[in-house]
Order: sequence, then structure tokens, then C-alpha cells
Amino acid sequence: MAQNIYDRPEFFAGYSDLSRSLRGLDGAAEWPAVRVLLPDLTGKRVVDLGCGFGWFSRFASSQGAASVLALDISEKMIARARADTSDAAVTYKIADLEHLELAEAAFDFAYSSLALHYIEDFTGLVVTVHRALLPGSHFVFTIEHPIYMAPSRPDWARDAEGRRIWPLDRYCVEGARTTDWLAKGVIKQHRKLGTTLNTLIAAGFSIRHVEEWSPNDEELRDNPDWATEMDRPMFLLISVQR
Ligand SMILES: C[S@@+](CC[C@H](N)C(=O)[O-])C[C@H]1O[C@@H](n2cnc3c(N)ncnc32)[C@H](O)[C@@H]1O
Repeated sequence: MAQNIYDRPEFFAGYSDLSRSLRGLDGAAEWPAVRVLLPDLTGKRVVDLGCGFGWFSRFASSQGAASVLALDISEKMIARARADTSDAAVTYKIADLEHLELAEAAFDFAYSSLALHYIEDFTGLVVTVHRALLPGSHFVFTIEHPIYMAPSRPDWARDAEGRRIWPLDRYCVEGARTTDWLAKGVIKQHRKLGTTLNTLIAAGFSIRHVEEWSPNDEELRDNPDWATEMDRPMFLLISVQR
């Protein structure tokens, strides 16, 4: 059974307070870089995997998507998504992506933002998504970068200027990593970059774009606290095509 941490009251309260929860896509630092990876959504049948509060699902509908199936394991996330949506093109459903079933060739675009690093059976999910997409369709997703997920040591080192050094902790050991972020005992699934890419290739996808996100000069000027993003990538953005 997959962990459903977003339904834990303390986690949900903390997550609800983040900029990306309060301001939606505009509150997500990586969104401008994600947006340029998106195909034209007009008329597309979209599936949003781990939709959370539904910010992307509503965006896809506003861009002319014919339908959006938005899936998430968390009842609290889905409840708020439903409450914030008055758009008949978007359908929210509780679903565990570890055991996802999707009809064959039922979608023209698959999307996922910051959910797939929670999934243990990434191979199974990727095969399901590949089968569910019409040939030629894109699958764009973001996950926590494996370099960001690998350091789990509390004893961060600092250099002479007090800057944090990010030691990698067993980068090549894949599997569950437990962290205390917003709540104790949050489980994420660490995979090497190569494993993620090779899983997509083995399922039959062609890699179109891989981005280890970092802010550009203008973004850094406007958001000086993002300087830490230059030390190690937090987000991995991937676009593949069936
Ligand atoms: C960081 S949030 C991202 C939400 C949304 N995609 C966004 O970017 O605003 C991760 C989401 O993945 C969902 N999630 C985690 N594990 C899941 C699973 N096994 N099946 C379905 N959803 C899952 C969580 O409930 C949560 O809503």
C-alpha cells in the first residue's frame, strides 16, 4: 500500500501553506520552464497524475483540453481540488498510481508534477502511461531531482564562507528514502537519473527534453533566496514522446 502522507493533518497543513499551494502555478519556481515543454493542449484528452489541488488540471482545461482526468491518492487534496474547480471538463478521481489502470490509447497527453518520486513501481506506471497514450503523444513530468533526494544526512557541512555543502548520501543505492519534511517519516523513492531515463526508453518512449532546473539570471535577481538552487538541482523536468 502506497504511503498517503498528504492526508496526514500536519503534512496537509504545512503543504497548504507553501507558495505553490497558495498561488498555484505562478507560485512554483519551475513552472515557466515546464510550460515551454507543453504541447498545444487544444482538444487533447489529458491525464494529470498526482494532481494535488488541481492547478495544472484547471490550466489544461483553460488551454482548450477536451477533457482532464485528474488522479490523486489523497482525499484531502482531491476535496480541495473539487471545491476549487467549476469546470465540467475536469474530472477528479481518487487513485493510487502504484496500481494505476488506464484504458489503452485513451489520452493524447500525460502530465505529472512532483508526484512520481513517491512511486515505487515506476516501471509499471511508465508502461501503463505508454499504453494509455495515442502514438505521437507527449508525457511531460517533473520529479525531485535524484541529487536533491540523495542527501538525507542531518550533519550538513559548510564551507569557509558558511555556504552549505550538499554531500551525496549513497546516490547509487536506489529505493526508499525517509525524510522529515512537513511531517516525520515521509517516504520517497530514490532512483538514479539513468534509471529514470532508461525506464522511459525501455517502455518505448523517445526522450525529447531533460532539464535539471536552475534559475536564470533574472529569476535569481528577483528571488535572491533561490541562490541555493545553483548548488544542486531540486527539480528534474522530463518530456518524452510515445
Ligand atoms: C508535491 S504534490 C504535487 C501536486 C500537484 N501535482 C502540483 O504540482 O501542484 C504530490 C502529490 O502526489 C500525490 N501522490 C503521492 N503518492 C501518490 C500515489 N501513490 N498515488 C496517487 N497520488 C500520489 C500526493 O497526494 C500529492 O497530491
